[in-house]
Amino acid sequence: NKLTPYVDALPIPPIVKNSEMRPDPDDAHKMLSLYRVTIEEIQQKVHRDLPPTRMWGFDGSSPGPTFETRSGQGLIVEWVNKLPLKHFLPVDHTLHGAEPDKPEVRCVIHLHGGRTPPGSDGYPEDWVVPGKSLTYHYPNRQDAAMLFYHDHTMGINRLNVYAGLQGMFLVRDEMEDKLNLPKGKYEVPLLLCDRFLRSDGQLEYPVSGNPRSPWVPEVYSNVMLANGKLSPYLDVEPRKYRFRVMNGSNARFFRLSFGNLLEMDVIGSDQGLLASPVKANRVLLAPAERTDIVFDFRAYAGEKILLRSDSFDIMQFRVASKSVADNSTVPAPLRSIERIPQSHAIRTRRLTLDESMNKVQQSMGMLLNNTPWHMPVTEKPRLNTAEIWELVNLTEDTHPIHLHLVKFQLLGRRSFNVFHFQDKGELIYTGTAIAPTPEEAGWKDTVRCETGQVTRIIVPFEGYPGRYVWHCHILEHEDNEMMRPYEVLPGDK
Ligand code: C2O
Ligand code: CU
Repeated sequence: NKLTPYVDALPIPPIVKNSEMRPDPDDAHKMLSLYRVTIEEIQQKVHRDLPPTRMWGFDGSSPGPTFETRSGQGLIVEWVNKLPLKHFLPVDHTLHGAEPDKPEVRCVIHLHGGRTPPGSDGYPEDWVVPGKSLTYHYPNRQDAAMLFYHDHTMGINRLNVYAGLQGMFLVRDEMEDKLNLPKGKYEVPLLLCDRFLRSDGQLEYPVSGNPRSPWVPEVYSNVMLANGKLSPYLDVEPRKYRFRVMNGSNARFFRLSFGNLLEMDVIGSDQGLLASPVKANRVLLAPAERTDIVFDFRAYAGEKILLRSDSFDIMQFRVASKSVADNSTVPAPLRSIERIPQSHAIRTRRLTLDESMNKVQQSMGMLLNNTPWHMPVTEKPRLNTAEIWELVNLTEDTHPIHLHLVKFQLLGRRSFNVFHFQDKGELIYTGTAIAPTPEEAGWKDTVRCETGQVTRIIVPFEGYPGRYVWHCHILEHEDNEMMRPYEVLPGDK
């Protein structure tokens, strides 16, 4: 029972609509737009020949509506939890935060990549039950970038996101406006994720064979969804398009390419534009990473081109045959990105990524710095200082590590002797340092930490003092318990 691919048009999520005005929490003389967004159970057609799929979404869709915002223009969102009282995916009550005394359905929304005050950041323990809502303030004092919003609830985050609780959030600024990149219908947001679909069209979340604990360490599913559709197509003109792509999978990494490795221009990453465009045939994207691509269909008039990731065909572009004018450009430079000198860091923290045995579940979990979530906060950077974080990966997986609040720069990666480190706690490098690729040399908020390597990042802690989190963005790892709080201390006056 193979489904016919490319029979559904690619959906473009609607732009979120503002409901009313509210005073700015930072300045009572100013009014800000309030967006009221409902989190609810929905039935969504993922393919023409499948019955509707039960999902959780925002204002009737998954991905939820896209936010179109301007840098420096704050906004308020009221996230209204109208979910049912029962979860439709298997909750593991042995996980921290999802104990049997907790309500089964809870949610809290985090704006990934947002420079957000701590009370609006969606702290994993700040969840609300159905019938309640959260009113969050996003000051938006940051550069143009594609952020995204998603559930972040302690212990069930992987299930809530898998059910569909994510959406895109675009920040624009004048510098980007001036570039004359493809825009309007020539700029296409693409939220890609993999899911297990049963033949009746319903979502399946796998469980382990362990009777104590249904938690599984990673989910790699059988189908790919693009903006919530299975194998959609998009009619395009033979001209340049800008694709704002994010990986919304729980655990799968993408290696994206157009057709047979056709050339594209990579112009941005997680936190906005790169210094200049980079020619590439393939882009690697871990969960939560974003890429900004310009692809020119001009040479392919009348053809069909697939967007692929390894052996998966994700979607099809149908290029019209009639040639069109295209005034858009991909200028170089795009934006100036100052490299932060390492000497600006006031300290270096060495932090490990670990595998650990969970005694209750008798299964393997993952930890940061060998420390479970509930232990006292150990990372307390000071506001307006920079630090180097050395992420020492002692596991056999690659982990996309994300820090809330900040943007950072990748300094590089380097292989080391894992056994010696485990034995003696001493770092012996076995290779030379590998500089970031040009695609990774811009501002990031999520970084791939490869197995057997130390990944070094330099992080300016700017924004707000308060409690935030850092974690692995493989959501199965995050839920069990590869996540830690960190605290930004107030800066010196
Ligand atoms: Cu995508 Cu803690 O976030
Ligand atoms: Cu991980």
